[in-house]
Amino acid sequence: MKFISTKMFKRSCLYRATVLIAFSGTLTTYAQDRKIDRRVDSLMKLMTLEEKVGQLNQYSGREVTGPVSEKKTDVLQDIRTGRVGSMLNVRGVKDTREIQKVALESRLKIPLLFSLDVIHGYKTVFPIPLGEAASWDLNAMRLSAQIAAKEAAAAGIHWTFAPMVDVARDPRWGRVMEGAGEDAYLGSLIAEARVKGFQGEQLGSVESIMACAKHFAGYGASIAGRDYNAVDMSRQQLWETYLPPFKASVDAGVATFMNAFNTLNGVPATGNAYLQRDILKSKWNFKGFMVSDWGSIGEMIPWGYAANEADAAVKAITAGSDMDMESRAYIDNLAQLVKEGKVSLKWVDDAVRRILYKKFELGLFEDPYRFSNFKREKKVFSDPAHRVAARELAKKSIVLLKNDQNILPIKNDVRNIALIGPLVQAKRDLEGSWIVESDSVNVVSLIEGVRNQISGKTNLIYAKGAGVLSSSEDSFAAAVEAARKADVVIMALGETWDMSGEAKSRADIRIPGKQEALFEAVKATGKPVIVVLMAGRPLIFDKIAAEASAILYAWWPGTEGGNAIADVLFGAYNPSAKLPVTFPRSVGQIPLSYDVYNTGRPVKDPANTRYKSMYIDSPNTPMYAFGYGLSYTSFGYSDLKLDSTSINQNGEAVLSFRLTNTGKVTGEEVVQLYIHDEVASVARPLKQLKGFQKLALKPGESRELKFTIKSELLSFYDNDLNWIAEPGRFKLMVGSASDDIRLQTNLTLR
Ligand code: NOJ
Repeated sequence: MKFISTKMFKRSCLYRATVLIAFSGTLTTYAQDRKIDRRVDSLMKLMTLEEKVGQLNQYSGREVTGPVSEKKTDVLQDIRTGRVGSMLNVRGVKDTREIQKVALESRLKIPLLFSLDVIHGYKTVFPIPLGEAASWDLNAMRLSAQIAAKEAAAAGIHWTFAPMVDVARDPRWGRVMEGAGEDAYLGSLIAEARVKGFQGEQLGSVESIMACAKHFAGYGASIAGRDYNAVDMSRQQLWETYLPPFKASVDAGVATFMNAFNTLNGVPATGNAYLQRDILKSKWNFKGFMVSDWGSIGEMIPWGYAANEADAAVKAITAGSDMDMESRAYIDNLAQLVKEGKVSLKWVDDAVRRILYKKFELGLFEDPYRFSNFKREKKVFSDPAHRVAARELAKKSIVLLKNDQNILPIKNDVRNIALIGPLVQAKRDLEGSWIVESDSVNVVSLIEGVRNQISGKTNLIYAKGAGVLSSSEDSFAAAVEAARKADVVIMALGETWDMSGEAKSRADIRIPGKQEALFEAVKATGKPVIVVLMAGRPLIFDKIAAEASAILYAWWPGTEGGNAIADVLFGAYNPSAKLPVTFPRSVGQIPLSYDVYNTGRPVKDPANTRYKSMYIDSPNTPMYAFGYGLSYTSFGYSDLKLDSTSINQNGEAVLSFRLTNTGKVTGEEVVQLYIHDEVASVARPLKQLKGFQKLALKPGESRELKFTIKSELLSFYDNDLNWIAEPGRFKLMVGSASDDIRLQTNLTLR
């Protein structure tokens, strides 16, 4: 007979209970799914073919975020007759209620889905997504999405067209502002955080909305950074660099996807069955639905991929585009195409099923107005916690690029500060592109933020000096005069808010207008000049980089931007952000990312550069590398240990090291793990980010940190698209930036 100790007995009961709870949880979800499936089935039995096609049709409301269709449509009448499944660009309790009411006049009373580009806040504006990504703070980004969802949901919105999870490595492309930067690993974790933030634990809560992973796929690699352009890349590149954040979104339970304007190796993403059917809906088993991008079904005609609108409709639905945003190609053609046998009813049914499922999941059949609630709208919009969170994340997103002689933080006893530049008083610019309900009057400008922090003894002197785009130097003299009177100068320079975003590609990404000349004029006074740069993309600013005493890169920091920048300037917050994207030295280096190859002819000795892989007029290295960002303190890395120098395919090794705050103030560090496969069947990049941790340490404090290395981290796509880890030696590198590796060792995979 076997005796079990009390401890073991308790443990086994606990185990059984846990299994039971987990199992019954799964059963409940399963039962619920079956129930929705049954409801969808019975509704679909009642639907005519025309009504089914209606569910696949999405129109824009009065506000437009794309080219206006030439077709004359009575939108309300179409809604009333069941010819519309979703509206975008209708928002606010009043409008959404009014329009939902019309949908409920239709024969089957199927509620509409209201969708909108809630990209970085609804009422409260958070930093642009690229800025948020610089925080490397996943919880803070999740909270930002959660607050945006709460505000939007209270105003009648069911669905946001976010997050944009396109990896972007070309700062000419205006939409680089909308994503998480250049890296697949960081981008995947951010995608997960954002999806979970928008959607909450489960769809159906009136505090969360459906997310949409966009733009599937490759859009960030538009040739030459020109928006809406073609994309041409190897499948390996697609799978290894561009698809992971989409896969992470599916794993996080994202409800919808949006396809893209670009072609991928010749086939428009919208008509691309490989992407939408083979990868997304089959291999990844995605159960949500795919919306086209604005007019992208119709745009397959000018691409030369579809002969006419009917042909475009056939190609899009067959390839897996479920909902037609603003092409009006489905509503005008699909029913007829089915009747003629040119489109299989099974594709239409599949698309309708996916869309109806989400409407049921959101609880819209129980109460079509449940999201549009005046009381909640008012209450949520005035929640002070939202601005607090926006300031927190804005602080965390500001990157300290330079700090000569520790000029920052500015001491409290400075008598005269000159604030110079076109963005000192800006408000609208600080919100960046894609804002919704915010009123720019409520934005804290830089000058207001500084005023909020200085003591009564400090005197502020302001001079604009120049406009962002102006070509005149007429106001330089006043700016120079202001600088002369000051002990320290803060300049606020950059782009205007509308120089980045959709359709805002730039061929020249140098800081625009006469701003660098203004900087030089001010610098010539000999006063210390701190430059705050604000923009929606990495800019090129050689002279500022070389001559400024300190540089903060604040992106577009949102509603609380001025306060957040002042927090960093005066030391109320010690900067901790790191670049999520490479800053090139020149446009000629683009596209440039940190994960470069050694090539067959690397420059080993700067004295011997003939016939080497290099430029004759520029270093290969960037101006500022991926992962780079300074702090007001310093960190020491030491005591690297690897608990085993070799592992097999199923094994793991633990890499540990000690991080110490070696400076005088508390600070946060983002420690980064990079891996290099030294010899493989496919040449591998010199570094790939495979882990990071962000933590705060007090002065003198030190902590042991660990990364677990498994073969998954060592894997890559071979030429046949197999995800494999090949035996051999790997370099493991730990550091403070991709170009600041502090510790390294080797691991062998057997
Ligand atoms: C086009 C953009 O590419 C997409 O991201 C956006 O969601 C839609 N327009 C709707 O505004």
